[in-house]
Amino acid sequence: MTEKSSYYISKSTRNKETAIKGLEYQVKMMWPDEKEKLMQFGLQDGSKIFEPGNGPGFITKKLLELYPNSHVTAVEIDPMMIELQKEVLAGFENRYFTKLGSVYDTGLPENEYDVAIVRLLLQHLPETEKIIAEFYRVLKPSGKLIIIDVDDGVGMAKIENLTPEERDFDRMIHQKFQVFQSKEGGNRFISRYLPKMLLKVGFMNVKIDSIISHTDLLDEERKNLYLMFFEDNPYIKDHLTTGVINQEEYNKLMEIQDKIKNFEDKGMVFIVFITSGEK
Ligand SMILES: C[S@@+](CC[C@H](N)C(=O)[O-])C[C@H]1O[C@@H](n2cnc3c(N)ncnc32)[C@H](O)[C@@H]1O
Repeated sequence: MTEKSSYYISKSTRNKETAIKGLEYQVKMMWPDEKEKLMQFGLQDGSKIFEPGNGPGFITKKLLELYPNSHVTAVEIDPMMIELQKEVLAGFENRYFTKLGSVYDTGLPENEYDVAIVRLLLQHLPETEKIIAEFYRVLKPSGKLIIIDVDDGVGMAKIENLTPEERDFDRMIHQKFQVFQSKEGGNRFISRYLPKMLLKVGFMNVKIDSIISHTDLLDEERKNLYLMFFEDNPYIKDHLTTGVINQEEYNKLMEIQDKIKNFEDKGMVFIVFITSGEK
């Protein structure tokens, strides 16, 4: 089983609690838009869905609620996540199955699934093309692959009140996160590379789309989720634990966070990409 991954919580020095909290935040923030996009991309009820790397099952739950006649099969490498799913997906036991294993070699039958939904997974793994070939194998002819992931080059712009020096410091810290992720086998710029990989593997009708959220255009509840996500900032706390940032850098980041927190017009533009193809 290939285990190199920048997101294998049980085996990493990351803080488990904050990592899970981060995932939960992202689902709450993005799901209303993601749901619309998945429908536009033709996801229908009655589908056999494949959801590799489904983590604690937050998205699995949303899918099962939205599509009451659908079934989700997942492959998840981390036993801790599979344990968490038992709680998150209580009541849905006969509508999902999570296999302990790796996406490089799922062991699942070929030509089996109508759609594969791959969310925030590929940014953490090396040899992405091999994984995409495995997704191709398990999809039915005409089956759809939908990948939701980031690209830090265009990913997020804060509306803040920082000085150029503070902004540079913030950027430097985020570059440290990018380097950490790439050393662990991931790539925070993955989305720009996906279209070519899908074409190479044989997918047709390859498309790239995005979900853009601007906090000035969201309702109060969702706007607050985005702002809280960045104020709580589970990833900054995580990287104090991993050693990517030291206490001094952490303290300076907290000062910067406080400055933004007290800025009346604070906000952000947040982008995720959706890359899709058809077998
Ligand atoms: C960032 S989390 C995303 C979880 C979920 N897709 C979501 O959007 O909330 C990535 C997940 O992929 C799992 N993972 C990492 N490497 C994997 C691999 N090689 N095979 C299967 N799952 C893997 C991790 O354990 C984790 O649960």
